[in-house]
Amino acid sequence: MENIITLHDLSFEPYISENQIKDAVKELAKKINSEFGGEELHIVSALTGSFIFTADLVRELEMPCQIHFVKVSSYHGGTSSTGTIRLETDIQLDFSNKNVLITEDIVDTGLTASFLFELIKNKGAKNIKLATLLYKPEAYKQALNIDFVGFSIPNEFVVGYGLDYKEIGRNINAIYKLKQS
Ligand code: IMP
Ligand code: MG
Repeated sequence: MENIITLHDLSFEPYISENQIKDAVKELAKKINSEFGGEELHIVSALTGSFIFTADLVRELEMPCQIHFVKVSSYHGGTSSTGTIRLETDIQLDFSNKNVLITEDIVDTGLTASFLFELIKNKGAKNIKLATLLYKPEAYKQALNIDFVGFSIPNEFVVGYGLDYKEIGRNINAIYKLKQS
């Protein structure tokens, strides 16, 4: 197959194209627009991976939005979750009576999503929804409902469009998956 890319010691092959991503983001935005109508929405974006997805998504949203970033990490550099979440940057905000949308690049085990959900709930939000571009149902281990999903994908390691392998690959426009050798 052409267009194989190498990041550090691993090879990746094309998986989801730039156009497919664009269409999926538009579809998600449509659903989010109709869910919240004109009500103000607080976006809580999980750094670092979701910065591109969040940037593209919010530009398709029609309601007034406030945008916040939290930095969490669970992979600590490898290709599988460590099972522990670190909150590296918190947000000092009271979400009482607010609508909140958590945006994630990918939901894998779901640990990050659940962690963020609890964090926001404890800040008093009246309504919390979760949007993710990618979702790995086979890896998901939580009861929490994921409200808006761009693509459900098999349990494979992917990079690009914000997602990294050892911090490299986030600036690639499309999504690539680990090449099986
Ligand atoms: P979770 O807490 O297990 O759901 O993991 C979520 C986080 O792990 C994501 O926000 C990503 O930073 C990272 N992650 C999970 N799967 C992948 C992948 O396939 N490629 C790159 N990062 C991933
Ligand atoms: Mg990562």
